[in-house]
Amino acid sequence: MEIKKLTIIGGHGKDGQPEPTREVTLKMGDIVSIVGPTGCGKTTLINDIELFANENTPSGRKVLINDGVPPEEFRADPYKNPIALISQHTNFLSDLPVKKFLEVHARIRKSDVQNVVNETVEFANQLTGEPLNVENSMTELSGGQTRALLIADAVIIGNSPIILLDEIENAGINRTKALQLLKNYQKIFIFVTHDPRIALLSDFRIAMGNGAMQKVILPENEEKVVAEELRKFDDVLTHFRDHIRKGDKLDKKMLDEYLATFAKSV
Ligand SMILES: Nc1ncnc2c1ncn2[C@@H]1O[C@H](COP(=O)(O)OP(=O)(O)OP(=O)(O)O)[C@@H](O)[C@H]1O
Ligand SMILES: [Mg+2]
Repeated sequence: MEIKKLTIIGGHGKDGQPEPTREVTLKMGDIVSIVGPTGCGKTTLINDIELFANENTPSGRKVLINDGVPPEEFRADPYKNPIALISQHTNFLSDLPVKKFLEVHARIRKSDVQNVVNETVEFANQLTGEPLNVENSMTELSGGQTRALLIADAVIIGNSPIILLDEIENAGINRTKALQLLKNYQKIFIFVTHDPRIALLSDFRIAMGNGAMQKVILPENEEKVVAEELRKFDDVLTHFRDHIRKGDKLDKKMLDEYLATFAKSV
């Protein structure tokens, strides 16, 4: 079944009142963020999507694929399930070397094994600052490498048309690069995020509150200008975050010099 769109039909929030947003449709190629304060129901919403909720979860939401109730085989057969969820706490249990693991997975998917394995590793390496050693075992990967590999695996080998990502920002993933790469694939990507850069680079965002979808926000007109300005501040912070991660001590001269070159480049 070719997936063209996914629709969330609103249920109710924590107080039992109907959700203000009654319906949201995500089309193939959309990158969507879910934003909101802690405990407002973001994870619950992506869980509803992953479960293909049909008024049978605490929110009473319904998830439709191509305007209809998804076929039972999506739930029953992992190979037919179009959704990959990359949660914050996913870890590999396999202690196979990275390369072997990917080869096995690619073979199950009947892909052109060597090419897709190389493409997957290359993709993962573009997401993190620390390239993978494919001879290392999966359990030896760092948190950031694990998440990068899971994303790459879901996008390239798994070929899942719908990918849900719960808070990738803390995992040392290059966010701008990730969004640019993901835009090259015709998929639906749904990010739960607290990161303004990811939220503002998305096609639209769903703002959650009190367990309910409060509104859908499109980054139009003036917000695009504001987002571009904010990106500069984020670049400055990212630059110094990298220094701190490297174990450098910061001084005033570094800041002044960086801001001076930065001012010339913008
Ligand atoms: N629509 C709803 N109806 C009833 N309970 C809900 C609803 N939405 C969320 N909850 C409950 O609220 C609690 C917090 O929700 P959730 O874990 O989804 O929040 P979150 O936004 O992901 O928080 P965090 O940012 O801390 O990860 C959970 O116990 C969940 O079951
Ligand atoms: Mg959560």
